[in-house]
Amino acid sequence: MNQAKHIAIIMDGNGRWAELQGKKRVKGHEAGAKVVKEITTYCSNNPEIERLTLYAFSTENWKRPRLEVEFLMKLLNTYLKNELAVYLQNNVRFEPIGDIRAFSKTLRETISMVQEKTAHCDGLVQSLALNYGSQDELLRAINSLKDSEEDITAQMLSNELDCKHDVDLLIRTGGDHRLSNYLLWQSAYAELFFVDTLWPDFKAGDLEKIIVDFTGIERRFGGLK
Ligand code: FPP
Repeated sequence: MNQAKHIAIIMDGNGRWAELQGKKRVKGHEAGAKVVKEITTYCSNNPEIERLTLYAFSTENWKRPRLEVEFLMKLLNTYLKNELAVYLQNNVRFEPIGDIRAFSKTLRETISMVQEKTAHCDGLVQSLALNYGSQDELLRAINSLKDSEEDITAQMLSNELDCKHDVDLLIRTGGDHRLSNYLLWQSAYAELFFVDTLWPDFKAGDLEKIIVDFTGIERRFGGLK
């Protein structure tokens, strides 16, 4: 039986959720942050799930209006500070992925603080992808290996990536059917689930149903039955 050890989610639809309610887009991000908490808690209570990797800010998201970007940065900072107690309570280790050098000193310090304070937790690993893009991650990894005297192997490359773990189940909410530069190497054999539900409406029960469907899929990893 398949085990969804590593679940990755593209949390899409915050803006449309807010607009549908006549609210500003940022209200959708606020509602989305609450869902991050619900889904993380659900996963931390499911011993089968080892990793949850969430796309929180992409290398392309800088193209959004300045005020929306600033709001997302503040929201991340507040979220991380507020959630520290919840991480500790649920034995969740926080491990960011992405190139956080582009963030403010304040946000970088909060990220490091939560990472350090949860380093001893040995339950679920929750990774937030922050200023993350798969192509950027691969380029950084390739550049770090470019002076290697031996031919680069898949294992060597994988070891240099921010996220070194294959994804079992990749979910995208919000109705679009694309990967948007997310965990492209790690998702080589992931099962992909695209759901129409907008992220702020996504519930732990929706994830549970997807996991049940995932469990029934025959995964062959390029081999035969
Ligand atoms: C996509 O919705 C979502 C994002 C750009 C970022 C995800 C952010 C959150 C879930 C909230 C903050 C997260 C944390 C961890 C505090 P969209 O704005 O592209 O939605 P749209 O497609 O409807 O416009």
